[in-house]
Amino acid sequence: MASITIKDLTMIFGNPKGISEAFLMIEENKTPQEILKETNATVALNNVSLEINDSELFVIVGLSGSGKSTLIRCLNLLNKPTKGEVFIDDLNIVNLEDKDLRELRRKRISMVFQNFGLISHRSVLKNVEYGLEIQNMDKIKRREKAMEAIQIVGLNGWENKKPHELSGGMKQRVGLARAIATEPEILLMDEPYSALDPLIRREMQNELLNLEDYINRTIVFITHDMNEAFKMGDRIALMKDGEIVQVGTASEFFKNPASNYVKDFIADVDKSQILKARAILAKPTLLAKLTDKRVDLIEKMENKELTYCYVVDETNLFKGYVTLDKLKKSRRITIEALVIEEEPVLRNTYIKELWKKLDGSNYSVPIVDSRGKFKGIVSNEDIISALA
Ligand SMILES: Nc1ncnc2c1ncn2[C@@H]1O[C@H](COP(=O)(O)OP(=O)(O)O)[C@@H](O)[C@H]1O
Ligand SMILES: [Mg+2]
Repeated sequence: MASITIKDLTMIFGNPKGISEAFLMIEENKTPQEILKETNATVALNNVSLEINDSELFVIVGLSGSGKSTLIRCLNLLNKPTKGEVFIDDLNIVNLEDKDLRELRRKRISMVFQNFGLISHRSVLKNVEYGLEIQNMDKIKRREKAMEAIQIVGLNGWENKKPHELSGGMKQRVGLARAIATEPEILLMDEPYSALDPLIRREMQNELLNLEDYINRTIVFITHDMNEAFKMGDRIALMKDGEIVQVGTASEFFKNPASNYVKDFIADVDKSQILKARAILAKPTLLAKLTDKRVDLIEKMENKELTYCYVVDETNLFKGYVTLDKLKKSRRITIEALVIEEEPVLRNTYIKELWKKLDGSNYSVPIVDSRGKFKGIVSNEDIISALA
């Protein structure tokens, strides 16, 4: 797990003279098109700053040519930025020596490509082993790790096939297995599903969303498809002409589009079909722990005028709820024995299904990830305002 901090990143493609001229023209607020015409240099990124949180599934979306690939390639230095800094946690990677950079790419970051990037004469297993092989991991251990990754992406039984014997979706699974086999902290995915048919694509999207909870990585996911962006992203950054025009959660985009460009861009998003509970999560006013003292919790709930409160254990696993009434009638020290079980809702549940489940009621439902970890709550009102 790791966070990524991008500071004032500029990337200009061209010869040295063109690049320095382009820099001056950026200062004069000239557009990339004007700069290209005059200097023959392409401003692919213009002063981009961004924070990507630990364990976040962060989506970068934008039209073709907006700078998405250039940006993601700066995160593992396949592109060396013309100006600016990229931090993985506290480590500034822009000026790393080759040896440290190789180490970073082998261990901490891996990438999944749109065109799969498989080695054609190698079997599925050998492709997945590749990253472990260049780490010089011994044969038995690397086979074990590769098989584990193959299992995770659902390809067991296929490990001895060659890439040409696989469908597009399966090839993409091999690419993903290879990327997660090294257990990187950061997974970079550049339009991984753009080459797939719609049905397979939807299946792969859903698989990644479920997988995410188990592999627990920071994922940077690129797409030009806004429906995919708003379905997948914990947060989304929209790019245009090498700049970021808005960053936020799906809800924030729909409630507060930053400009007419954003408004137009999101106008065709099919919210009822793609939005999941995760897109509209809210934090509860109060969240109790199993080990909380009963009298303390009563006081907190009364202060906040709550009649019930959700409860998690010390690892944030969802446990149920307690009512003020029941707490007051008890004499116990902690609240553990007073918790009432409730079936939580998975955060990857589509809003339209959640809507049916809530059935007009006024309370909020608890939302968890696929491991049962508490993520937040969703109310009827949240759904209505998201779909409005
Ligand atoms: N290696 C390169 N040399 C010159 N221009 C490039 C190079 N890579 C990208 N560009 C240009 O930078 C701009 C952004 O490209 P890219 O990051 O690939 O966009 P996206 O991934 O959003 O489609 C485009 O104008 C593209 O032509
Ligand atoms: Mg691209």
